[in-house]
Amino acid sequence: MIEVSHLSKNYGERRAITDLNFKIDKGDVVGFLGPNGAGKSTTMKIITGFMAPTSGEARVCGYDVFLNPIEVKKRIGYLPETPPLYLDMLVDDYLKFVAELKQVPKDKIKDYVDMSLEKAQLTDVRRRLIKNLSKGFKQRVGIAQALVSNPEVLVLDEPTVGLDPKQVAEIRNLIRQLKGEHTVILSTHILPEVQASCDKVIIIHEGKIVAQESIADIANLNKGFIMLTLKTRKSQDIKANLKAIAGVEEIEEVNNQYYRIKMNEDEELIEKVASEVIRSGAGLVELTPARANLEDVFLKLTYGQETESGV
Ligand SMILES: Nc1ncnc2c1ncn2[C@@H]1O[C@H](COP(=O)(O)OP(=O)(O)OP(=O)(O)O)[C@@H](O)[C@H]1O
Ligand SMILES: [Mg+2]
Repeated sequence: MIEVSHLSKNYGERRAITDLNFKIDKGDVVGFLGPNGAGKSTTMKIITGFMAPTSGEARVCGYDVFLNPIEVKKRIGYLPETPPLYLDMLVDDYLKFVAELKQVPKDKIKDYVDMSLEKAQLTDVRRRLIKNLSKGFKQRVGIAQALVSNPEVLVLDEPTVGLDPKQVAEIRNLIRQLKGEHTVILSTHILPEVQASCDKVIIIHEGKIVAQESIADIANLNKGFIMLTLKTRKSQDIKANLKAIAGVEEIEEVNNQYYRIKMNEDEELIEKVASEVIRSGAGLVELTPARANLEDVFLKLTYGQETESGV
């Protein structure tokens, strides 16, 4: 349904994305996950035909986004980072206007506007001026305009940004309901968002794809292991001593006196680690076990400096 191959984009000297390759099947809900500046919005602008890549190709429903931008735009609903709202319009007039632009057949416009109002839970404010709505409701109008043509593919750039927790839950619910009927790609830097709504995740970091898995597989990557967070009182290197304990797989100093340890799932081992820290004289301040999850994988893959300063 969406096919991206060898896609790269430079802004002048700055490389925003480099050689991205991925495929999204019909009916899938895929999370595009990455820290700020990773290249999520850039990729979405290219897929939706709003910006040309420097090299590479993107196809949506079989159409090349540059050779056939009109065919692509007809099939895509896009929520950009800053939704293109006409602030002086009433909510339902604006949605009607977008439906007309998207060439929704005249006899379907009313139904589609009603459907998008209902899905984005805007029915109560349909006769209000967009400029008078709160930020979260403006965001919902942005989601409604992406839905109003009942598109095959939805591209949502950070759909829950600016919403309150209740609205976040509602939008996640809505996205889950779109599954199957629509193909959805949503970007986020928030992990629970992906876990709550998506079947697959593409993790992007510094303009490159660092993982591409189903959510179930990612969770399994670390099966049989637990993660320990450990804090010592003194800054004294304890890595080598802990690494020497059988069953300790990896140890990483995340911050001063803060360590993350990946080890076999074995309670006695936690005791051994604690004893060793005390024996070494470094002082044990904190020791927290947690089952390895998507967050561990994400942090590991994207750990490093922010990319905003340039790649
Ligand atoms: N118009 C532009 N001109 C120059 N550089 C840009 C432009 N747009 C984006 N960039 C740079 O390209 C890189 C990727 O930006 P992009 O907006 O795609 O990231 P993102 O993953 O969407 O980040 P965020 O989570 O902050 O929205 C960043 O280094 C950014 O500074
Ligand atoms: Mg962005």
